[in-house]
Amino acid sequence: MGNQVYGLPPTADQLLEDLVRACAADLAGPTAGSVPSELRLDAPSGTRYAYALPTAGPPTRSVSAVLNDRRTIRDFAPGPLPAKVLGEVLKATLSQDRRMASGETEAGNGLTPVVVVRAATGIEPGVYEAGAAGNCLYWHGALSQEAWRLLFFQSQLESAPVLILMAGSPAAAWHRDAAQGYLRLVRRAGAAAYAGWLAALQQGYDGCLMGSTLPSPQLNEAAGFDPAGRRPLIALAIGLRVESPG
Ligand SMILES: Cc1cc2nc3c(=O)[nH]c(=O)nc-3n(C[C@H](O)[C@H](O)[C@H](O)COP(=O)(O)O)c2cc1C
Repeated sequence: MGNQVYGLPPTADQLLEDLVRACAADLAGPTAGSVPSELRLDAPSGTRYAYALPTAGPPTRSVSAVLNDRRTIRDFAPGPLPAKVLGEVLKATLSQDRRMASGETEAGNGLTPVVVVRAATGIEPGVYEAGAAGNCLYWHGALSQEAWRLLFFQSQLESAPVLILMAGSPAAAWHRDAAQGYLRLVRRAGAAAYAGWLAALQQGYDGCLMGSTLPSPQLNEAAGFDPAGRRPLIALAIGLRVESPG
């Protein structure tokens, strides 16, 4: 009924599809310069293959269902995140970016999910990078509890079992799209992280998006972050919500 009143597409899936198409058209900049090879967003040397992530099967909830009752969760229940849920979330982030910014990764202006695992089934805690298809993890290094805590402005978020940092290269984005490059990159990162959140919700998990995280020197070293060439743009905490009593 609401959709008829506002002239919106009849289903939530179609609405999302239309929104992605509109954003992709908006992001297709007129400049599209070339990115020097040394500025491409490669994983730091020393990164090694660590885990294949299993698939989770079809989502337990539809997009419309999760959009209707979605809310941000900042207090997470103890317990590990299943590796298959992490896999679905990572795949969703990367496939969203491929749809929204087609060809940008190949042009050297990619986004990469850096995954900080505190507790996930069968995965050693530490800092990882997702493979390009989102179905595996590459090991970067360990992260102390102190460095984990330093990431958050809000202490309750420390309870999240997993944090995904969508990283990109402002330098590459500048070469690609001049002054508009960084804004476009940040919008892509936001959309990718949001798609990851929806995927988590569809699997019955929860999350919180954060524009502001504070990488510590230890995380910067492990993940090879630097302010211009490879930096976190937005973060997504995922896990299970703490059930409210009663
Ligand atoms: C792009 C984006 C960035 C956000 N950044 C932060 C943040 O830095 N810190 C935070 O606590 N919440 C952040 N949020 C979460 C919003 O604050 C949250 O969505 C808001 O509280 C509304 O709650 P709701 O999602 O339950 O409707 C962000 C959300 C989005 C979409």
